[in-house]
Amino acid sequence: MTITETASRNKFGTSFDKYALEYDKWFDKHENQYQSEILALREAIPKDKIGIEIGVGTGRFAQPLNITSGIEPSANMIQLAEQRGIKVFRAVAENLPIENDSYDFALMVTTVCFLNNIPKAFSEIHRILKPNGEIIIGLIDKNSELGKKYRQQKNTNKFYKTAHFHSTSEITELLSNSGFGKFSFWQTLTPENGNIIEQPQSGFGKGSFVVIKSIKTLKT
Ligand SMILES: C[S@@+](CC[C@H](N)C(=O)[O-])C[C@H]1O[C@@H](n2cnc3c(N)ncnc32)[C@H](O)[C@@H]1O
Repeated sequence: MTITETASRNKFGTSFDKYALEYDKWFDKHENQYQSEILALREAIPKDKIGIEIGVGTGRFAQPLNITSGIEPSANMIQLAEQRGIKVFRAVAENLPIENDSYDFALMVTTVCFLNNIPKAFSEIHRILKPNGEIIIGLIDKNSELGKKYRQQKNTNKFYKTAHFHSTSEITELLSNSGFGKFSFWQTLTPENGNIIEQPQSGFGKGSFVVIKSIKTLKT
């Protein structure tokens, strides 16, 4: 079955389903942005631990970060992720088909803005993490230069028209409310650096792409 045929049968029919190949090729056209984001995420990913990416898409981040499991609702995105060697469960973040205390860490990259219910998703991720497990979130901060650009283009961009962008502080507060603590932050894609492969900096407020790492603390 071709990707287009699968899309027409797909109950999760979204832009990601319809334009999965186009989404995937974006990374080839924006190599420096992509590599900068990978470098920032690497700062947060723990060594020799087992993780899962929630909203794994086509596996563009899971593969270089050695994450071999994912959650993804779109069948066509899954097809491409599987070609990259990722085992993907077809599901949404708000209802994970995963047992309690299963993973050392969970990654979520530019997916939080597409969730229907962020507290429910964070509660589910809290449940599937082992004690002291880590959640790692990569996002475009809505107040950053790129965040403002994406918000301006929202209605004309096929991928971002359904997105609800957030600030780093808003996501940090939602994580705190879901039983996560001990926060660390890294940032990249700082406007003054232009289009280069950039070394990440700690903190947030300057770079458009922010990585938040937080540890499962309280029981929710
Ligand atoms: C911008 S893409 C990011 C994909 C991948 N993480 C990456 O960075 O390339 C957002 C992904 O979130 C998925 N998605 C949308 N709603 C979701 C939900 N409720 N739970 C999990 N994933 C979701 C979409 O199908 C899409 O693959």
